Amino acid sequence: PQKPTSVKALAESPGFSSLPSVYTFPKHPNGEVFSDTKESIPTIDFSLLTSSNIDERSKTIQELGKACKDWGFFMVINHGVPESMMKAIIDACGEFFELTEGEKGEYEGKYVLDPIRFGTSFNASVDKILCWRDYLKIFQHPEFHSPRRPPAFREIAREYSKRVRQVAKEILRGISESLGLEDNYIDETLDLQNGLQVLVANFYPPCPQPELAMGLPAHSDHGLLTLLIQNQIGGLQVQHNGKWVNIDPIPNSFLANIGDHIEILSNGKYNSVLHRAVVNNRDVRISIAMPHGPALDAVVGPASKLVEDERNPPEYRAMKYKEYLELQQGSMLNGKSCLDIVR
Ligand code: SIN
Ligand code: FE2
Repeated sequence: PQKPTSVKALAESPGFSSLPSVYTFPKHPNGEVFSDTKESIPTIDFSLLTSSNIDERSKTIQELGKACKDWGFFMVINHGVPESMMKAIIDACGEFFELTEGEKGEYEGKYVLDPIRFGTSFNASVDKILCWRDYLKIFQHPEFHSPRRPPAFREIAREYSKRVRQVAKEILRGISESLGLEDNYIDETLDLQNGLQVLVANFYPPCPQPELAMGLPAHSDHGLLTLLIQNQIGGLQVQHNGKWVNIDPIPNSFLANIGDHIEILSNGKYNSVLHRAVVNNRDVRISIAMPHGPALDAVVGPASKLVEDERNPPEYRAMKYKEYLELQQGSMLNGKSCLDIVR
């Protein structure tokens, strides 16, 4: 089969007006049940999570635990990362996608753990139906990487990633505590000093038949905690109580969600949540997801304190994060099916 081009190049090709069948999803989500509730996803005030006022902090940790349990997804406000920095990284990623196909092609990765990888769809070599999405994935930690172009990318990404990593670390500390574990449990057990942090930039160009295409099909994230920002174009949908909920972009906040490795570590007390990206026919949507995971060599299983009595047997077996990641990134995205390998 012909190697797929980027969806950006396809969308911009002269006279392009109908979606090739390889991008057509048979059972499109617009036919599925949408939530009609006005309930909105929880908000966590980061400044209270890090407050020196013990009551404020413990109340926020309770809210965080409830958000993880009920939604697996929450908004983070008052996080201290400057809005200008969020805008700068979105602009820098936008500029990367504007490079020529040849320039971007230099970063076309072969192996799923290559530290810089430009590509289209999710995993174009195995996807049966292609996603209406181009991506750039860059490892930011424990080793920092950056494409050479655009020139400003490196410094913006370095600073942004460092700030986001601190936010993630504090939230993971709160999640540990909310599970009844020591606050540094996740940090120490999973060796977050060497934890994997990836910058995943997603580019969704306008699509001529958005009702037939998908940006990213339903999936859960592999890591511990993902922090996402986007330009002001909607498209993210989250599953809540069996129904899909549209998540509107809120300026200057992070959308946070817990990944499979929190589900594993918590022995299913908190579940990773299904989400997906739909596309539209008007505007370019750019999102930047930053998954934070254990160290690649960490072996992760349920926290021993959560499985110590016979009423709570371990529901997941321990596995090296790197092996899990290779499997998840090397397969088609298919709901939460990847978790089956440790169940
Ligand atoms: C993702 O699930 O990693 C990205 C979703 C989005 O583009 O909002
Ligand atoms: Fe995701």
